Amino acid sequence: MKLTQEWLPGTGDLKIMPVVRNRNSSRRPLWIIVLVALVCVALIRAYVYPPQQYSACYFLSSNVCGPLKDWLPPVPARVYSDDEIAARVVIRDILSMPSVPLKNPKIAFMFLTLGSLPFEKLWEKFFLGHEDRFSIYVHASKEKPVHVSALFIGKDIRSDKVAWGKISMVDAEKRLLASALQDADNQHFVLLSESCIPLHNFDYVYSYLMETNISFVDCFEDPGPHGTGRYSEHMLPEMEKKDWRKGAQWFSIKRQHAVLILADNLYYTKFKLYCKPGMEGRNCYADEHYLPTFFHMIDPTGIANWSVTHVDWSEGKWHPKSYKSRDVTFELLKNITSIDESVHVTSDAKKEVQKRPCLWNGSKRPCYLFARKFVPETLDNLMNLLSNFTALFE
Ligand SMILES: *[C@@H]1O[C@H](CO)[C@@H](O)[C@H](O)[C@H]1NC(C)=O
Ligand SMILES: *[C@@H]1O[C@H](CO)[C@@H](O)[C@H](O)[C@H]1NC(C)=O
Ligand SMILES: *[C@@H]1O[C@H](CO)[C@@H](O)[C@H](O)[C@H]1NC(C)=O
Ligand SMILES: *[C@@H]1O[C@H](CO)[C@@H](O)[C@H](O)[C@H]1NC(C)=O
Ligand SMILES: *[C@@H]1O[C@H](CO)[C@@H](O)[C@H](O)[C@H]1NC(C)=O
Repeated sequence: MKLTQEWLPGTGDLKIMPVVRNRNSSRRPLWIIVLVALVCVALIRAYVYPPQQYSACYFLSSNVCGPLKDWLPPVPARVYSDDEIAARVVIRDILSMPSVPLKNPKIAFMFLTLGSLPFEKLWEKFFLGHEDRFSIYVHASKEKPVHVSALFIGKDIRSDKVAWGKISMVDAEKRLLASALQDADNQHFVLLSESCIPLHNFDYVYSYLMETNISFVDCFEDPGPHGTGRYSEHMLPEMEKKDWRKGAQWFSIKRQHAVLILADNLYYTKFKLYCKPGMEGRNCYADEHYLPTFFHMIDPTGIANWSVTHVDWSEGKWHPKSYKSRDVTFELLKNITSIDESVHVTSDAKKEVQKRPCLWNGSKRPCYLFARKFVPETLDNLMNLLSNFTALFE
Protein backbone atom coordinates (compact mmCIF):
# COMPACT_ATOMS: atom_id res chain seq x y z
CA MET A 1 0.00 0.00 0.00
CA LYS A 2 2.71 2.45 0.97
CA LEU A 3 4.64 1.86 -2.17
CA THR A 4 1.58 2.56 -4.32
CA GLN A 5 0.86 5.82 -2.57
CA GLU A 6 4.39 6.99 -3.02
CA TRP A 7 4.04 6.78 -6.78
CA LEU A 8 0.70 8.57 -6.88
CA PRO A 9 0.89 12.30 -6.23
CA GLY A 10 -2.13 14.08 -4.79
CA THR A 11 -3.62 11.13 -2.98
CA GLY A 12 -3.97 13.28 0.12
CA ASP A 13 -1.24 11.68 2.20
CA LEU A 14 0.62 14.81 3.35
CA LYS A 15 3.50 12.79 4.67
CA ILE A 16 4.62 11.60 1.29
CA MET A 17 3.86 14.72 -0.76
CA PRO A 18 7.31 16.29 -0.46
CA VAL A 19 8.97 13.07 -1.53
CA VAL A 20 6.85 13.01 -4.64
CA ARG A 21 7.60 16.66 -5.47
CA ASN A 22 11.31 15.93 -5.16
CA ARG A 23 11.07 13.07 -7.57
CA ASN A 24 9.12 15.17 -10.03
CA SER A 25 11.71 17.85 -10.26
CA SER A 26 14.56 15.37 -10.53
CA ARG A 27 12.78 13.64 -13.47
CA ARG A 28 12.06 16.72 -15.56
CA PRO A 29 14.82 16.04 -18.16
CA LEU A 30 13.45 12.54 -18.65
CA TRP A 31 9.97 13.96 -19.32
CA ILE A 32 11.36 16.28 -21.94
CA ILE A 33 13.19 13.43 -23.63
CA VAL A 34 10.04 11.30 -23.65
CA LEU A 35 7.97 14.15 -25.07
CA VAL A 36 10.53 14.89 -27.79
CA ALA A 37 10.67 11.19 -28.64
CA LEU A 38 6.87 10.99 -28.93
CA VAL A 39 6.79 13.99 -31.26
CA CYS A 40 9.52 12.41 -33.38
CA VAL A 41 7.65 9.10 -33.61
CA ALA A 42 4.48 10.97 -34.60
CA LEU A 43 6.34 12.94 -37.28
CA ILE A 44 7.98 9.82 -38.69
CA ARG A 45 4.60 8.09 -38.81
CA ALA A 46 3.08 11.09 -40.55
CA TYR A 47 5.91 10.93 -43.07
CA VAL A 48 5.82 7.18 -43.68
CA TYR A 49 2.01 6.90 -43.64
CA PRO A 50 0.83 10.23 -45.07
CA PRO A 51 -2.80 11.11 -44.38
CA GLN A 52 -5.17 10.65 -47.31
CA GLN A 53 -6.36 14.20 -46.91
CA TYR A 54 -4.62 16.93 -45.00
CA SER A 55 -6.15 17.79 -41.67
CA ALA A 56 -4.85 19.66 -38.67
CA CYS A 57 -5.79 16.98 -36.24
CA TYR A 58 -2.89 14.54 -36.21
CA PHE A 59 -2.77 14.53 -32.45
CA LEU A 60 -6.45 14.65 -31.65
CA SER A 61 -8.57 11.69 -30.77
CA SER A 62 -10.07 9.64 -33.57
CA ASN A 63 -13.67 10.50 -32.78
CA VAL A 64 -12.82 14.15 -33.38
CA CYS A 65 -10.88 13.35 -36.52
CA GLY A 66 -12.40 10.65 -38.65
CA PRO A 67 -9.55 10.36 -41.16
CA LEU A 68 -7.02 9.73 -38.39
CA LYS A 69 -7.67 6.00 -38.22
CA ASP A 70 -7.36 5.78 -42.00
CA TRP A 71 -3.68 6.59 -42.07
CA LEU A 72 -2.36 5.05 -38.88
CA PRO A 73 -0.57 1.79 -39.64
CA PRO A 74 -2.94 -1.16 -39.19
CA VAL A 75 -2.60 -2.66 -35.74
CA PRO A 76 -1.79 -6.36 -36.08
CA ALA A 77 -4.94 -8.01 -34.76
CA ARG A 78 -3.10 -10.98 -33.32
CA VAL A 79 0.14 -12.90 -33.29
CA TYR A 80 0.35 -15.45 -36.09
CA SER A 81 1.22 -19.05 -35.29
CA ASP A 82 4.26 -20.76 -36.83
CA ASP A 83 2.00 -22.69 -39.23
CA GLU A 84 0.28 -19.53 -40.34
CA ILE A 85 3.52 -17.66 -40.95
CA ALA A 86 4.84 -20.59 -42.97
CA ALA A 87 1.59 -20.85 -44.96
CA ARG A 88 1.61 -17.13 -45.77
CA VAL A 89 5.21 -17.25 -46.98
CA VAL A 90 4.49 -20.20 -49.29
CA ILE A 91 1.28 -18.58 -50.59
CA ARG A 92 2.94 -15.25 -51.32
CA ASP A 93 5.81 -16.96 -53.08
CA ILE A 94 3.57 -19.09 -55.30
CA LEU A 95 1.36 -16.11 -56.17
CA SER A 96 4.32 -13.98 -57.19
CA MET A 97 5.88 -16.63 -59.44
CA PRO A 98 5.99 -15.35 -63.00
CA SER A 99 4.11 -17.59 -65.41
CA VAL A 100 6.45 -19.18 -67.90
CA PRO A 101 5.26 -18.76 -71.51
CA LEU A 102 4.70 -22.22 -72.99
CA LYS A 103 4.77 -23.34 -76.61
CA ASN A 104 1.78 -25.56 -76.11
CA PRO A 105 -0.47 -24.46 -73.22
CA LYS A 106 -3.35 -26.83 -72.52
CA ILE A 107 -6.56 -26.86 -70.51
CA ALA A 108 -7.08 -29.80 -68.19
CA PHE A 109 -10.71 -30.98 -68.19
CA MET A 110 -11.21 -32.85 -64.92
CA PHE A 111 -14.38 -34.92 -64.64
CA LEU A 112 -15.59 -35.75 -61.14
CA THR A 113 -18.16 -38.51 -61.69
CA LEU A 114 -19.87 -41.44 -60.03
CA GLY A 115 -19.25 -43.77 -62.98
CA SER A 116 -19.66 -43.53 -66.76
CA LEU A 117 -20.04 -40.21 -68.56
CA PRO A 118 -23.38 -39.99 -70.42
CA PHE A 119 -22.18 -37.10 -72.60
CA GLU A 120 -18.87 -38.49 -73.85
CA LYS A 121 -20.08 -38.32 -77.46
CA LEU A 122 -20.99 -34.67 -77.01
CA TRP A 123 -17.63 -33.85 -75.45
CA GLU A 124 -15.89 -35.74 -78.24
CA LYS A 125 -17.55 -33.43 -80.73
CA PHE A 126 -16.36 -30.49 -78.66
CA PHE A 127 -12.76 -31.72 -78.43
CA LEU A 128 -12.13 -33.13 -81.93
CA GLY A 129 -9.64 -31.13 -83.95
CA HIS A 130 -7.99 -29.55 -80.92
CA GLU A 131 -5.94 -32.52 -79.73
CA ASP A 132 -2.86 -30.55 -78.72
CA ARG A 133 -4.73 -28.05 -76.52
CA PHE A 134 -6.52 -30.15 -73.93
CA SER A 135 -6.08 -33.07 -71.57
CA ILE A 136 -8.74 -35.18 -69.86
CA TYR A 137 -8.85 -36.71 -66.37
CA VAL A 138 -11.69 -38.78 -64.92
CA HIS A 139 -12.21 -39.48 -61.22
CA ALA A 140 -15.06 -42.01 -60.95
CA SER A 141 -15.89 -42.42 -57.29
CA LYS A 142 -18.39 -45.27 -57.43
CA GLU A 143 -17.88 -47.60 -60.37
CA LYS A 144 -15.41 -48.02 -63.20
CA PRO A 145 -16.61 -46.01 -66.21
CA VAL A 146 -17.34 -47.65 -69.55
CA HIS A 147 -15.99 -45.27 -72.19
CA VAL A 148 -17.63 -44.88 -75.58
CA SER A 149 -15.19 -42.27 -76.91
CA ALA A 150 -11.55 -43.05 -77.63
CA LEU A 151 -10.62 -39.64 -76.19
CA PHE A 152 -11.66 -40.84 -72.73
CA ILE A 153 -10.05 -44.27 -72.77
CA GLY A 154 -7.14 -44.52 -70.34
CA LYS A 155 -7.99 -41.20 -68.67
CA ASP A 156 -9.31 -42.66 -65.40
CA ILE A 157 -7.17 -41.68 -62.42
CA ARG A 158 -6.87 -43.55 -59.14
CA SER A 159 -10.01 -42.71 -57.26
CA ASP A 160 -11.75 -43.19 -53.95
CA LYS A 161 -15.26 -42.95 -52.53
CA VAL A 162 -16.88 -39.52 -52.31
CA ALA A 163 -19.58 -38.69 -49.78
CA TRP A 164 -21.84 -35.79 -50.72
CA GLY A 165 -20.96 -32.62 -48.81
CA LYS A 166 -18.03 -34.20 -46.97
CA ILE A 167 -14.31 -33.51 -47.16
CA SER A 168 -13.88 -36.58 -49.41
CA MET A 169 -15.34 -34.36 -52.17
CA VAL A 170 -12.46 -31.91 -51.73
CA ASP A 171 -10.04 -34.85 -51.56
CA ALA A 172 -11.27 -36.05 -54.96
CA GLU A 173 -10.78 -32.54 -56.39
CA LYS A 174 -7.24 -32.52 -55.02
CA ARG A 175 -6.59 -35.96 -56.53
CA LEU A 176 -7.66 -34.65 -59.95
CA LEU A 177 -5.46 -31.57 -59.57
CA ALA A 178 -2.49 -33.69 -58.50
CA SER A 179 -2.84 -35.79 -61.66
CA ALA A 180 -3.37 -32.84 -63.96
CA LEU A 181 -0.50 -30.77 -62.51
CA GLN A 182 1.94 -33.51 -63.51
CA ASP A 183 1.63 -32.30 -67.09
CA ALA A 184 3.55 -29.02 -67.19
CA ASP A 185 1.61 -27.94 -70.30
CA ASN A 186 -1.66 -27.75 -68.34
CA GLN A 187 -2.19 -24.08 -67.53
CA HIS A 188 -5.87 -24.01 -66.66
CA PHE A 189 -7.89 -26.57 -64.72
CA VAL A 190 -11.63 -27.04 -65.16
CA LEU A 191 -13.71 -29.16 -62.80
CA LEU A 192 -16.80 -30.75 -64.38
CA SER A 193 -19.34 -33.41 -63.48
CA GLU A 194 -20.95 -36.08 -65.64
CA SER A 195 -24.09 -33.95 -65.93
CA CYS A 196 -22.19 -30.98 -67.43
CA ILE A 197 -22.32 -29.94 -71.09
CA PRO A 198 -20.29 -27.37 -73.07
CA LEU A 199 -22.18 -24.26 -74.25
CA HIS A 200 -19.65 -22.96 -76.78
CA ASN A 201 -17.13 -24.36 -79.20
CA PHE A 202 -13.60 -25.24 -78.15
CA ASP A 203 -11.90 -22.09 -79.52
CA TYR A 204 -14.33 -19.86 -77.64
CA VAL A 205 -13.79 -21.74 -74.35
CA TYR A 206 -10.02 -21.85 -74.84
CA SER A 207 -9.64 -18.12 -75.37
CA TYR A 208 -12.15 -17.24 -72.64
CA LEU A 209 -10.14 -19.19 -70.06
CA MET A 210 -6.59 -18.65 -71.31
CA GLU A 211 -6.61 -14.99 -72.32
CA THR A 212 -7.33 -13.67 -68.87
CA ASN A 213 -5.27 -13.89 -65.73
CA ILE A 214 -7.99 -14.76 -63.23
CA SER A 215 -9.52 -17.97 -61.93
CA PHE A 216 -13.27 -18.50 -62.05
CA VAL A 217 -14.13 -19.43 -58.49
CA ASP A 218 -17.66 -18.77 -57.26
CA CYS A 219 -17.58 -16.66 -54.10
CA PHE A 220 -20.07 -14.52 -52.20
CA GLU A 221 -20.95 -13.49 -48.67
CA ASP A 222 -24.15 -15.02 -47.34
CA PRO A 223 -25.04 -13.82 -43.83
CA GLY A 224 -27.85 -16.39 -43.62
CA PRO A 225 -28.06 -19.88 -42.08
CA HIS A 226 -26.67 -21.58 -45.23
CA GLY A 227 -23.73 -19.17 -45.29
CA THR A 228 -22.15 -17.63 -42.22
CA GLY A 229 -24.54 -19.74 -40.13
CA ARG A 230 -22.28 -22.70 -40.94
CA TYR A 231 -19.20 -21.01 -39.54
CA SER A 232 -17.71 -22.55 -36.41
CA GLU A 233 -15.50 -20.73 -33.89
CA HIS A 234 -13.12 -23.70 -34.16
CA MET A 235 -11.92 -22.02 -37.38
CA LEU A 236 -10.23 -19.38 -35.23
CA PRO A 237 -7.68 -17.90 -35.16
CA GLU A 238 -6.83 -18.41 -38.84
CA MET A 239 -10.33 -17.82 -40.19
CA GLU A 240 -12.63 -15.21 -38.74
CA LYS A 241 -16.36 -15.06 -39.29
CA LYS A 242 -15.94 -12.07 -41.60
CA ASP A 243 -13.71 -14.17 -43.91
CA TRP A 244 -16.36 -16.87 -44.42
CA ARG A 245 -17.59 -17.23 -48.02
CA LYS A 246 -19.79 -19.55 -50.04
CA GLY A 247 -19.83 -20.72 -53.65
CA ALA A 248 -20.48 -23.61 -56.02
CA GLN A 249 -17.65 -26.13 -56.22
CA TRP A 250 -17.33 -26.16 -60.04
CA PHE A 251 -14.17 -24.12 -60.46
CA SER A 252 -11.96 -23.23 -63.39
CA ILE A 253 -8.55 -22.14 -62.15
CA LYS A 254 -5.08 -21.00 -63.15
CA ARG A 255 -2.08 -23.21 -62.57
CA GLN A 256 -0.73 -21.21 -59.62
CA HIS A 257 -4.09 -21.48 -57.86
CA ALA A 258 -4.10 -25.23 -58.48
CA VAL A 259 -0.64 -25.46 -56.88
CA LEU A 260 -1.89 -23.42 -53.91
CA ILE A 261 -4.74 -25.87 -53.29
CA LEU A 262 -2.24 -28.73 -53.09
CA ALA A 263 0.17 -26.68 -50.98
CA ASP A 264 -2.44 -25.73 -48.41
CA ASN A 265 -2.60 -27.88 -45.34
CA LEU A 266 -3.48 -25.31 -42.70
CA TYR A 267 -6.89 -24.15 -43.96
CA TYR A 268 -7.74 -27.53 -45.46
CA THR A 269 -7.23 -29.23 -42.08
CA LYS A 270 -9.55 -26.72 -40.38
CA PHE A 271 -12.31 -27.56 -42.87
CA LYS A 272 -11.64 -31.27 -42.56
CA LEU A 273 -12.03 -31.12 -38.78
CA TYR A 274 -14.70 -28.46 -38.32
CA CYS A 275 -16.85 -28.25 -41.44
CA LYS A 276 -18.98 -31.39 -41.72
CA PRO A 277 -22.65 -32.21 -42.13
CA GLY A 278 -24.36 -32.45 -38.74
CA MET A 279 -21.53 -31.01 -36.68
CA GLU A 280 -22.64 -29.19 -33.50
CA GLY A 281 -26.12 -28.77 -34.94
CA ARG A 282 -24.83 -27.24 -38.17
CA ASN A 283 -24.68 -28.72 -41.63
CA CYS A 284 -21.42 -27.46 -43.05
CA TYR A 285 -20.37 -28.62 -46.53
CA ALA A 286 -16.65 -28.28 -47.14
CA ASP A 287 -16.97 -28.25 -50.93
CA GLU A 288 -19.21 -25.14 -50.75
CA HIS A 289 -16.99 -23.14 -48.40
CA TYR A 290 -13.35 -24.23 -48.44
CA LEU A 291 -12.18 -22.83 -51.79
CA PRO A 292 -14.36 -19.67 -51.79
CA THR A 293 -13.12 -18.80 -48.27
CA PHE A 294 -9.52 -19.81 -49.00
CA PHE A 295 -9.21 -17.74 -52.18
CA HIS A 296 -11.13 -14.82 -50.68
CA MET A 297 -8.52 -14.73 -47.92
CA ILE A 298 -5.35 -15.25 -49.91
CA ASP A 299 -6.03 -13.74 -53.36
CA PRO A 300 -9.39 -11.90 -53.52
CA THR A 301 -8.62 -10.01 -56.72
CA GLY A 302 -7.31 -13.15 -58.45
CA ILE A 303 -10.80 -14.71 -58.66
CA ALA A 304 -13.83 -13.69 -60.72
CA ASN A 305 -16.33 -14.52 -57.93
CA TRP A 306 -18.56 -16.50 -60.31
CA SER A 307 -18.34 -19.98 -61.78
CA VAL A 308 -18.34 -20.46 -65.57
CA THR A 309 -20.62 -23.47 -65.07
CA HIS A 310 -24.29 -22.49 -65.09
CA VAL A 311 -26.82 -24.11 -62.82
CA ASP A 312 -30.42 -23.13 -62.13
CA TRP A 313 -31.31 -22.73 -58.45
CA SER A 314 -34.44 -20.69 -59.15
CA GLU A 315 -36.77 -23.47 -58.01
CA GLY A 316 -35.49 -22.91 -54.48
CA LYS A 317 -35.11 -26.61 -53.72
CA TRP A 318 -32.35 -28.56 -52.01
CA HIS A 319 -30.91 -29.55 -55.40
CA PRO A 320 -30.70 -27.41 -58.55
CA LYS A 321 -33.02 -27.89 -61.50
CA SER A 322 -32.30 -31.03 -63.49
CA TYR A 323 -33.04 -30.59 -67.22
CA LYS A 324 -35.14 -33.33 -68.87
CA SER A 325 -35.48 -33.96 -72.60
CA ARG A 326 -38.52 -31.71 -72.95
CA ASP A 327 -36.61 -28.81 -71.29
CA VAL A 328 -33.75 -28.93 -73.77
CA THR A 329 -34.72 -26.39 -76.39
CA PHE A 330 -33.00 -23.83 -78.57
CA GLU A 331 -34.55 -21.16 -76.37
CA LEU A 332 -33.09 -22.66 -73.18
CA LEU A 333 -29.55 -22.72 -74.60
CA LYS A 334 -30.00 -19.21 -75.95
CA ASN A 335 -31.19 -18.01 -72.56
CA ILE A 336 -28.29 -19.54 -70.67
CA THR A 337 -25.63 -18.33 -73.11
CA SER A 338 -26.93 -14.77 -73.05
CA ILE A 339 -26.75 -14.32 -69.25
CA ASP A 340 -24.12 -11.67 -68.48
CA GLU A 341 -24.77 -11.06 -64.78
CA SER A 342 -23.98 -13.39 -61.91
CA VAL A 343 -26.74 -13.73 -59.33
CA HIS A 344 -26.40 -14.78 -55.71
CA VAL A 345 -29.26 -14.91 -53.23
CA THR A 346 -28.65 -14.81 -49.48
CA SER A 347 -30.29 -17.42 -47.27
CA ASP A 348 -31.41 -15.04 -44.51
CA ALA A 349 -34.94 -13.64 -44.13
CA LYS A 350 -34.08 -10.73 -46.47
CA LYS A 351 -33.30 -13.09 -49.38
CA GLU A 352 -31.13 -10.34 -50.80
CA VAL A 353 -30.41 -10.76 -54.51
CA GLN A 354 -26.81 -9.81 -55.32
CA LYS A 355 -26.42 -9.14 -59.05
CA ARG A 356 -23.02 -8.35 -60.55
CA PRO A 357 -21.97 -7.96 -64.17
CA CYS A 358 -19.65 -10.70 -65.42
CA LEU A 359 -16.56 -8.65 -66.16
CA TRP A 360 -14.04 -10.46 -68.31
CA ASN A 361 -10.75 -8.54 -68.55
CA GLY A 362 -12.74 -5.43 -67.59
CA SER A 363 -15.65 -5.69 -70.03
CA LYS A 364 -19.06 -7.30 -69.69
CA ARG A 365 -19.38 -10.72 -71.35
CA PRO A 366 -21.66 -13.76 -71.11
CA CYS A 367 -20.83 -15.57 -67.86
CA TYR A 368 -21.14 -19.22 -68.83
CA LEU A 369 -19.10 -21.76 -70.79
CA PHE A 370 -20.68 -24.93 -69.37
CA ALA A 371 -24.01 -25.88 -67.84
CA ARG A 372 -25.47 -28.55 -65.56
CA LYS A 373 -27.46 -30.62 -64.65
CA PHE A 374 -28.67 -32.54 -67.68
CA VAL A 375 -30.12 -36.06 -67.38
CA PRO A 376 -28.54 -38.73 -69.67
CA GLU A 377 -31.72 -38.97 -71.80
CA THR A 378 -31.10 -35.44 -73.13
CA LEU A 379 -28.06 -36.60 -75.13
CA ASP A 380 -29.75 -37.01 -78.53
CA ASN A 381 -31.63 -33.77 -78.15
CA LEU A 382 -28.45 -31.95 -77.21
CA MET A 383 -26.44 -33.48 -80.07
CA ASN A 384 -29.02 -32.20 -82.58
CA LEU A 385 -29.40 -28.81 -81.01
CA LEU A 386 -25.75 -28.09 -80.42
CA SER A 387 -24.87 -28.85 -84.07
CA ASN A 388 -27.48 -26.33 -85.12
CA PHE A 389 -26.63 -23.77 -82.50
CA THR A 390 -24.23 -21.38 -84.18
CA ALA A 391 -22.74 -20.17 -80.89
CA LEU A 392 -21.61 -23.71 -80.15
CA PHE A 393 -20.15 -25.94 -82.83
CA GLU A 394 -19.68 -23.75 -85.86
C1 LIG B 1 -4.49 -9.18 -64.45
O1 LIG B 1 -4.18 -8.30 -65.51
C2 LIG B 1 -4.64 -6.98 -65.32
C3 LIG B 1 -4.34 -6.21 -66.58
O2 LIG B 1 -4.97 -6.80 -67.67
C4 LIG B 1 -3.95 -6.41 -64.08
O3 LIG B 1 -4.44 -5.12 -63.83
C5 LIG B 1 -4.25 -7.30 -62.87
O4 LIG B 1 -3.53 -6.85 -61.75
C6 LIG B 1 -3.87 -8.74 -63.14
N1 LIG B 1 -4.35 -9.55 -62.05
C7 LIG B 1 -3.68 -10.57 -61.54
C8 LIG B 1 -4.35 -11.32 -60.45
O5 LIG B 1 -2.56 -10.89 -61.95
C1 LIG C 1 -14.09 -10.52 -56.28
O1 LIG C 1 -14.52 -10.00 -55.04
C2 LIG C 1 -13.51 -9.36 -54.28
C3 LIG C 1 -14.14 -8.89 -53.00
O2 LIG C 1 -14.67 -9.95 -52.30
C4 LIG C 1 -12.94 -8.19 -55.05
O3 LIG C 1 -11.87 -7.63 -54.33
C5 LIG C 1 -12.46 -8.66 -56.40
O4 LIG C 1 -12.03 -7.57 -57.15
C6 LIG C 1 -13.55 -9.40 -57.15
N1 LIG C 1 -13.00 -9.94 -58.39
C7 LIG C 1 -13.21 -9.37 -59.57
C8 LIG C 1 -12.53 -9.97 -60.74
O5 LIG C 1 -13.93 -8.39 -59.69
C1 LIG D 1 -35.98 -17.66 -71.61
O1 LIG D 1 -35.95 -16.37 -71.02
C2 LIG D 1 -37.20 -15.69 -71.09
C3 LIG D 1 -36.99 -14.28 -70.57
O2 LIG D 1 -36.31 -14.28 -69.36
C4 LIG D 1 -38.25 -16.46 -70.31
O3 LIG D 1 -39.50 -15.80 -70.39
C5 LIG D 1 -38.37 -17.87 -70.88
O4 LIG D 1 -39.28 -18.63 -70.11
C6 LIG D 1 -37.00 -18.54 -70.92
N1 LIG D 1 -37.14 -19.81 -71.61
C7 LIG D 1 -36.57 -20.93 -71.19
C8 LIG D 1 -36.82 -22.14 -72.00
O5 LIG D 1 -35.85 -20.97 -70.20
C1 LIG E 1 -7.01 -7.58 -71.48
O1 LIG E 1 -6.88 -6.24 -71.00
C2 LIG E 1 -5.63 -5.67 -71.22
C3 LIG E 1 -5.63 -4.31 -70.61
O2 LIG E 1 -6.85 -3.96 -70.05
C4 LIG E 1 -5.35 -5.61 -72.72
O3 LIG E 1 -4.05 -5.09 -72.94
C5 LIG E 1 -5.42 -7.02 -73.28
O4 LIG E 1 -5.24 -7.01 -74.69
C6 LIG E 1 -6.77 -7.64 -72.96
N1 LIG E 1 -6.80 -9.00 -73.43
C7 LIG E 1 -7.70 -9.43 -74.30
C8 LIG E 1 -7.59 -10.85 -74.72
O5 LIG E 1 -8.60 -8.73 -74.72
C1 LIG F 1 -31.98 -24.90 -86.32
O1 LIG F 1 -31.90 -23.47 -86.34
C2 LIG F 1 -32.90 -22.84 -87.10
C3 LIG F 1 -32.64 -21.33 -87.09
O2 LIG F 1 -31.61 -20.97 -86.25
C4 LIG F 1 -34.27 -23.16 -86.49
O3 LIG F 1 -35.29 -22.55 -87.25
C5 LIG F 1 -34.48 -24.67 -86.48
O4 LIG F 1 -35.68 -24.98 -85.84
C6 LIG F 1 -33.31 -25.33 -85.75
N1 LIG F 1 -33.42 -26.78 -85.80
C7 LIG F 1 -33.50 -27.53 -84.73
C8 LIG F 1 -33.53 -29.00 -84.96
O5 LIG F 1 -33.53 -27.06 -83.61
